[in-house]
Amino acid sequence: MTQPKLNPRGSVSVIDLPVVSDPRGDLTFVEGENHIPFPIRRVYYLYNVPVDSERGGHAHKELEQVVFALSGSFRMKVDDGQTKSEYWLRDPRKGLYISRLVWREMDSFSQGAVCMVLASHRYEESDYYRDYKDFLAETQQPNQGVR
Ligand code: TYD
Repeated sequence: MTQPKLNPRGSVSVIDLPVVSDPRGDLTFVEGENHIPFPIRRVYYLYNVPVDSERGGHAHKELEQVVFALSGSFRMKVDDGQTKSEYWLRDPRKGLYISRLVWREMDSFSQGAVCMVLASHRYEESDYYRDYKDFLAETQQPNQGVR
């Protein structure tokens, strides 16, 4: 497992979860503060997503998340304000950890894809950067290192 630093910013990493397989099927489990680096305060999921849909388009001031493709697949584009990269999520055993201050966009959903997100905080609109320019300005602030 790739263990992210505590409360980092601009950090994205893949978390491999355990799998227990037997002839009846596969079982994967996730424990807050064990497999993922924060207590889980919220779970949400996206489903019935049209294949041409684009989601995300924001960053968070404090929120940390781990994103899973429970079924199907989709693309996650991430941007820390300097470097852009992309991940294809398609394996329910792998979660994508996304720290605060990462701009994310999701697209290329397969038919019937289900995206589950484990989040470090409850929903709070004031935690969002929804304007890319505001996000970029924040990432260029000096002395905003790991807390
Ligand atoms: P948003 O986070 O913008 O969705 P996405 O990144 O998938 O495009 O949220 C869409 C709407 O849903 C927005 O009005 C806020 C609301 N919402 C909640 O009420 N609670 C939640 O936990 C989440 C994630 C969103």
